[in-house]
Amino acid sequence: SKKWHFKWEVGYIYWSPDCRENIMIGINGRFPGPTIRAKAGDTIKVELKNGLPTEGVVIHWHGIRQFGTPWADGTASISQCAINPEETFIYEFKVEKPGTYFYHGHYGMQRAAGLYGSLIVDVADGQKEPFDYDGELNLLLSDWYHQNSLLINGKGQHNCSLAAHLIPGSSTCRTKRGECEPVVLRVLPNKTYRLRIASTTSLSSLNLAIGHHKMMVVEADGNYVEPFSVNDMDIYSGESYSVLITTDQVPSSNYWLSVGVRGRLPQTQPALAILNYHPNSPSKLPASKPPVAPAWNDYAHSKSFSYKILARQGTPKPPTNPVRQIALLNTQNKINGYIKWSINNISLALPPTPYLGSMRYRLRNAFDDRKPPENFAREYDIMKPPINPSAIQGSNAYKLEFNSTVDVILQNANALSGNVSDIHPWHLHAHDFWVLGYGDGRFSKKDVTKFNLKNPPLRNTVVLFPYGWTAIRFVADNPGVWAFHCHIEPHLHMGMGVIFAEGVELVKKIPKEALACGMTGKMLMNNHLP
Ligand code: C2O
Ligand code: CU
Repeated sequence: SKKWHFKWEVGYIYWSPDCRENIMIGINGRFPGPTIRAKAGDTIKVELKNGLPTEGVVIHWHGIRQFGTPWADGTASISQCAINPEETFIYEFKVEKPGTYFYHGHYGMQRAAGLYGSLIVDVADGQKEPFDYDGELNLLLSDWYHQNSLLINGKGQHNCSLAAHLIPGSSTCRTKRGECEPVVLRVLPNKTYRLRIASTTSLSSLNLAIGHHKMMVVEADGNYVEPFSVNDMDIYSGESYSVLITTDQVPSSNYWLSVGVRGRLPQTQPALAILNYHPNSPSKLPASKPPVAPAWNDYAHSKSFSYKILARQGTPKPPTNPVRQIALLNTQNKINGYIKWSINNISLALPPTPYLGSMRYRLRNAFDDRKPPENFAREYDIMKPPINPSAIQGSNAYKLEFNSTVDVILQNANALSGNVSDIHPWHLHAHDFWVLGYGDGRFSKKDVTKFNLKNPPLRNTVVLFPYGWTAIRFVADNPGVWAFHCHIEPHLHMGMGVIFAEGVELVKKIPKEALACGMTGKMLMNNHLP
């Protein structure tokens, strides 16, 4: 296995992701950040310099387990202190499992500002994927808050027709560097391609389709799934997939790949890319129109896609006896006049000292060390806006017994205004979990009997549908302190997350650079940390 060494500097850049110039956060002067490509078992070392003049920065490696390196998880206030301007932090970790991953900022709203990139892990030498393909294409999907344009590999079109780009000389919204030119996916006829798709959107849930081509889903979040074929697929923020496509359509034509919005009335045009059959010119307009996403509120369509995702044969099965069931009700609340999200009436407010340091060194008063609630009121009506909409902010953490099996029931509910319940894709750091089931309405005890224990898929992100519940199971086998949260960035920012801690006493020496803030920062200055 190999050790990769990268030197990155995060900084503000002028960029035109959707043909309009803006200030974004880039890495080494570019957006999106560099793609990391490694093999299972390799070590990645990123020397990250913060070149932002006035704010801290961290990078989270989404989907990577960080076993033995919990301080490299890149979550500000949880696994480390934000890296100060002009300072450098070294992330060093192993990539254990082949799959499609990505990385992104995990401090404030820096993901929405463009801090992300792809991370792809190939099978180790001598290993084989359980499916065959001739070539590979990579799509990193995101959104950009200038009118919320959708981006494919960092490129989109706001108010600027794609045809204008494709027909030479006719462009009305050309930019200096061609930053927003449509993505062209070059393919040969009659081959099979693996399309890697990941979504790091800050807000949007997405739907992807390719005109005239079926997609065979084979991987989700770095885990193989039982292959199934679809015409279009939903992708929530934090999820990644691989699909196989066969280029068996009329080869004299090109085809549109289109990405649209789910769960919210679309305010923008879909993002488009071109599947360019060799030897057609990439600027040849496809003969048929871009595929149209299903109606934004067609949740039945979305559910049927999610329900099809099952573990591929050979995937480890979940242990059968969870020692603990934690039910997490999300509600929208007002705290001091501001809209927040709460979990069992606590809106997550991160403390100034990272939990990993304060828990490892048993500091007092670094965060609220009372047990957070494991359940919510029996009589809570999830179909109505909260009667008492107030909640409190808190930094409480769930302490999980090391190596124990834990079930979590995510329960959705009505938001502050009537007849509104949002989609929330929940992401667990540093673990895969089994998705045991989904349901509509309020979770009831007897739903446990309907759990899929036979072939539940392993994932690191799972969707919670409006007014519904989602049940997951995982083994708390990774010493550290980990976030479990809604991957919609403003939702996390407004408190929609919880902290899980397990086996923290087993964590080896935490690099001092990770703890140079808050109470651990003071202790370091006084040489009071081991
Ligand atoms: Cu990709 Cu905590 O997130
Ligand atoms: Cu959410």
